Amino acid sequence: MSQAPQSASQEPSGEQWASRIGVILAVAGSAVGLGNFLRFPGNAAQNGAGAFMIPYFVSLLVLGIPLCWAEWTMGRYGGKKGFNSAPGVFSVIWPHPAAKYFGAIALMIPLVIYMYYVLIEAWCLGYAINYATGALMKGSDPAAYDSFFGTFVGAGKDGALLAPGNRRWLWVLCGVFMLNFTLIYRGVSKGIEAFCKVAMPVMAALALIVLVRVLTLGEHEGRGVLDGLGYMWNPNFEKLKNPQTWLAASGQIFFSLSVGFGIIVNYASYLKDEDDVVLSGLTSSSMNEFFEVCLGGLITIPAAFIFMGALDPDTLDSSFALGFRALPNVFGAMWGGRVIGFLWFFMLFVAAITSSVSMLQPVIAFFEEGFGLKRHASAAILGLITAMGCGFVVWFSQDLMVLDTFDFWVGSVLIFLLALVQSILYGWIFGIKRGEEQAHIGAHLRIPRFVQLMLKYVVPVYLLVIFGAFCWNNVLSHDEQAGSIPNAMAAELTEGAPSAALIDALADLEEPVEVPAGAVIRAAGDNSPAQLVGEDEKLLATFEAADAEGIPVLSHATGRLETILNTESALSAILFVGMVLAFLLVSIHIAGRRWVAEGRLRYGEAQ
Ligand code: ALA
Repeated sequence: MSQAPQSASQEPSGEQWASRIGVILAVAGSAVGLGNFLRFPGNAAQNGAGAFMIPYFVSLLVLGIPLCWAEWTMGRYGGKKGFNSAPGVFSVIWPHPAAKYFGAIALMIPLVIYMYYVLIEAWCLGYAINYATGALMKGSDPAAYDSFFGTFVGAGKDGALLAPGNRRWLWVLCGVFMLNFTLIYRGVSKGIEAFCKVAMPVMAALALIVLVRVLTLGEHEGRGVLDGLGYMWNPNFEKLKNPQTWLAASGQIFFSLSVGFGIIVNYASYLKDEDDVVLSGLTSSSMNEFFEVCLGGLITIPAAFIFMGALDPDTLDSSFALGFRALPNVFGAMWGGRVIGFLWFFMLFVAAITSSVSMLQPVIAFFEEGFGLKRHASAAILGLITAMGCGFVVWFSQDLMVLDTFDFWVGSVLIFLLALVQSILYGWIFGIKRGEEQAHIGAHLRIPRFVQLMLKYVVPVYLLVIFGAFCWNNVLSHDEQAGSIPNAMAAELTEGAPSAALIDALADLEEPVEVPAGAVIRAAGDNSPAQLVGEDEKLLATFEAADAEGIPVLSHATGRLETILNTESALSAILFVGMVLAFLLVSIHIAGRRWVAEGRLRYGEAQ
């Protein structure tokens, strides 16, 4: 093993965690966030409730924890060799000129996720303030909460957040933004670690208070706490046959543990040589699971069910609908709702900020070691880039399309990809023998041998299959058999608004097709079948040639690719992400040349 001599300018950052509990709380803080309290309950309730826990725990044990250990091990190893950012760490693991470019994915993920995550964090604080002032206590009219949310986030039209009346919330966003940068500017131990040591217990205490209130809610219209818990947890094993359930479970594990985010590699690089990565990795993951399953899983959905009954799939499908629209109904109707509403949203804000600061550190570390910049200069550059990204999300607020596009392509697709890249780096390039040796330096606990074998053989294959299936299911559009409408309805398939009878027939199909307001029928042409299209010309369903059973209806599931091609804001979001990627690749290229010139990196030699 050789390591190039280091000159003064090649010194690693010198940053280190101050204590073991501090680093565990910082990693757990990065993990515990909106994913635990909003994304998890909706995902679980929609994908088989109690049965969801089977793919969930399989993903945790096969992918989540093993990859978390691999990231901790590679990160600490890279840190020992003088690198804190993914491009540097990956180059140490794989001494090849191409390695550093894979680091772009690990910088891109936290950077782009930060751009929208900080906005949601500001919504949480904004909602907490609205509970404190009483503005969000709007009685029991669900429409009032929907409309409040729509106006608050500017979902009506692009630029709505800059309209008079809404602008003042941008000051909250600026404040939250500044707070993140103040923490990051203070550094790893004085900023992130010191903050997480206070924030994590505060978050736990707030979540427990809200949980106790939910569990003591009593009955509402005949529904009690046990019914709420039953709604959330009674297993529906049928859902396990659907690959989407397994994909949702793995995606949830990655997002929630912040595995495949590029964060753990960076955080672990600040460990000391003798620090325990095995126990620390396991403890922070377990802490995350406690917050997710025991707190997140018991609050949101049971409370919403008690007050509102069964939730519609759209509410479960969206973390925002559940957290920002359904729960305010509950707080509006319960005794002490104003205080609990305040505590809940403030707790979400605290949970979010410990995650968002962790998204800044990997990129700061890259600017510091890639260009020899001091902390204030790297923080200033990063501030500029993230402010541009966040401004982009703020401006293109209609239907939250840009936020959603960033979340899908970066917060889901790229996470799978990075997890795959890291599993190959660890299992096949770093090597599981070296990985096992390195992981156990300073360890108080042994990782069972089969986990290493799993990391090499099972994890990459599992990830490849999941990644392929995920892209197939979500990126491409599909026309699915929804059932058949009676032949007599052929006369209804004429140009114009669909008749009430047709709307009813579509709602009665085996897979019901919902007809939104403004949708119209496009009558069949010489070579084209009749179609149902939305107000925006979006294809909703196709009516095929009649057969013995009636007129078959194919419902159209719009894939992400089609959305990009047909929606300007989604396309703009992709172009923006492409520009960020290009910027990172060029920066990494320049940094790589610098590292080679300084003798910090020697390609082709094990480091
Ligand atoms: N792991 C963080 C969360 O769950 C990003 O929100």
